[in-house]
This record gives sequence, C-alpha cells and structure tokens, in this order.
Amino acid sequence: MQLKGKKILVTGGAGFIGFHLTRKLLELGAEVTIYDNMSNSKPENVKDNPKAKFIKGDILDFKKLLSLPQFDVIYHLAAQVVVPYSMENPAIDFETNARGTLNVLEKARKDKSRLLFASSAAVYGNPAILPTTEDYGFHPVSCYGLSKVVGEEYCQMYTQQYGLNITILRFANVYGSRCHGVIHDFLDKLQKDPSKLAIIGTGQQARDLVNVADIVEALVLASDEKAISKTYNLGFGETTTIIDLAKMMLKILNLTNKTFISTTSSSWQGDINTIWFDITKAKTELGWTPKIRLEDHLRTLIVERKMI
Ligand SMILES: NC(=O)c1ccc[n+]([C@@H]2O[C@H](COP(=O)([O-])OP(=O)(O)OC[C@H]3O[C@@H](n4cnc5c(N)ncnc54)[C@H](O)[C@@H]3O)[C@@H](O)[C@H]2O)c1
Repeated sequence: MQLKGKKILVTGGAGFIGFHLTRKLLELGAEVTIYDNMSNSKPENVKDNPKAKFIKGDILDFKKLLSLPQFDVIYHLAAQVVVPYSMENPAIDFETNARGTLNVLEKARKDKSRLLFASSAAVYGNPAILPTTEDYGFHPVSCYGLSKVVGEEYCQMYTQQYGLNITILRFANVYGSRCHGVIHDFLDKLQKDPSKLAIIGTGQQARDLVNVADIVEALVLASDEKAISKTYNLGFGETTTIIDLAKMMLKILNLTNKTFISTTSSSWQGDINTIWFDITKAKTELGWTPKIRLEDHLRTLIVERKMI
C-alpha cells in the first residue's frame, strides 16, 4: 500500500517497536496518531516523533477509542508484553491483550480500517518442529501466549464474518535501540563489572533475534493488499542460545576467558526453550529479507557505549 498521506493509528506507538514504526511511517509521509496509555513506554518515544499526533489513552477505554477519528490503517501494537507478569496476573494480561484487541477490532469494523495485528512466537509455545512455520498451530505455554492466541482468533473471526482486511504478524525476539531486552541487560552488567556475567536461566534457551529495523520494514510491506487475510512469521530465521549470545559479546569485547559466566538451574514459568522461525512465507510473499546481522548490531552498540 502507498502509505503517503494515509491516516494511520499506531496503538502502543510510544513503546519500543511502536516508536520505530511511527518514525518510519512519518518518513513515508503518513499522518500518524499514537494511542498509548504510557504504561510501559518512555516519554522520549513520543517527544522524538514530534510530527505524530499523540493521544494518551487506553485500548480498554472503549468509548474513547471509538471516538477517535477514522483511520485508513491501524497497527495494533499495544499490549501487556511481559511473560512472567502474565503468569502472576492472568486476568490483567487477558484484559489488555484479548479484550483490548477486541476493542481495537471494533474500532476497525466501525470505520472499515485496514488492521495489522502484532502477535508473537508465544502462540507456538515450545514447538516440536524447528524451524517453525505459520501452520504449526497454537500451543501456548504462558498466559501471554494464550491471550495473543485469543487476539489472533478474534482477528480471524472479524476477517471471516465481517470481511475486515487484517494481517497477523508474529514477531520472534525483536531487539534494537530503546529496547530493554537481554542484550542491553548483559551490556549494562558487563559495563559495571566485566569480570562476571550472571545469566538468569540455564542459558540454553535459544532465541530468533531480529532487528527492529527489519521488523519495521516488514510491517510496511505487510500493509500491501496481497498480505490481507494472511499470517506471517517475522524473525531472522536463525536461532542463538543465550550463552552463545553472551559469548558473542565477550568476543567482541575481547573478554573471552576473562569473564566468568554464571547461570541458574531453572528459568521462569511460561518461558520457552527455543524460538526459531521459518520465514520462507514472508520472504516469498512479502519480498522481505531481514538484513541486519546480530553480531554487526552488537559491535555497533558496544562501540556506541565506548566499551571498546
Ligand atoms: N519486542 C518483542 O520482541 C516482541 C515479540 C513478540 C511480539 N511483540 C509484540 O509487539 C508489540 C509491541 O511490543 P514492544 O516490544 O514494542 O512492547 P512495548 O511494551 O515497548 O510497547 C507496547 C506499548 O503498549 C502500551 N500499552 C500497554 N497497554 C496498553 C493499553 N491498555 N492501552 C494503550 N496502550 C497500552 C505500552 O505503554 C507500550 O508503549 C506487542 O503487541 C508485543 O506483544 C513484541
């Protein structure tokens, strides 16, 4: 879809991926409105996209959501995103991710907006087949994964019964600037004390790490008509254990054999062993290829932080 001049709503636009997506959409000449309750966002994510209109609001505030102007496209990114939190607070997680998504779908139905829904690898649980394709099925092992399944199922229902133009994007593990993930956590620890690195979990969990710039490119491509009623895996298509990620960092920092890596015997409830996406469908149908290699990004980050 030609996004120039389009009126676009980004729910969760003040979050990590939402910030980068909003920036890209503005560059492409879209009129972007961010709708975010700021529960998990940084004020600078709004300030640094000054051309976007910002509305502080909750997707659970149905009246407010419905009173927003009409949009051509809605990117629905707002969510409760923390797996351990979802296990402690299943009802809150359900409200935001299931009911919240239903509310956003109602807004899209009222206005006949195109909708792109941010789903997750968590819908697959611990897949028996790796790399995992889109047709593997739903086997969530966390309340977060289940609430994303419910969101997806509502998207399917709205596609079939109301003819809404929806695309579901399942993200693997997205990293990049403004993200508080394992990469920044390890670098923070190593910056404080390079002699040791404590890993929470066994370190054997493996992740399909994909850069946010590549994800944003896919989100733009997925606005095209050919992606309507489709579901796509968005990952790098490779898998890296947390231990290997740590070793990759230590190598760049010239700390191999100098830093003591410790692990814990178990992980948290709802954690997944291995995420490894088959991304053939997004490659062939969307013409998307993730380009940024993890090691290159790590090197850039480490240089930026003046750690080498
Ligand atoms: N980052 C990843 O690796 C990853 C992986 C899989 C799926 N996803 C999905 O991508 C989307 C964006 O994730 P992110 O990493 O940018 O997370 P994030 O927490 O940085 O962004 C989510 C945003 O939604 C907002 N929000 C939360 N509840 C809200 C509510 N009730 N009403 C309005 N706004 C609300 C938060 O304030 C935050 O700004 C989410 O749907 C997430 O489930 C992310």
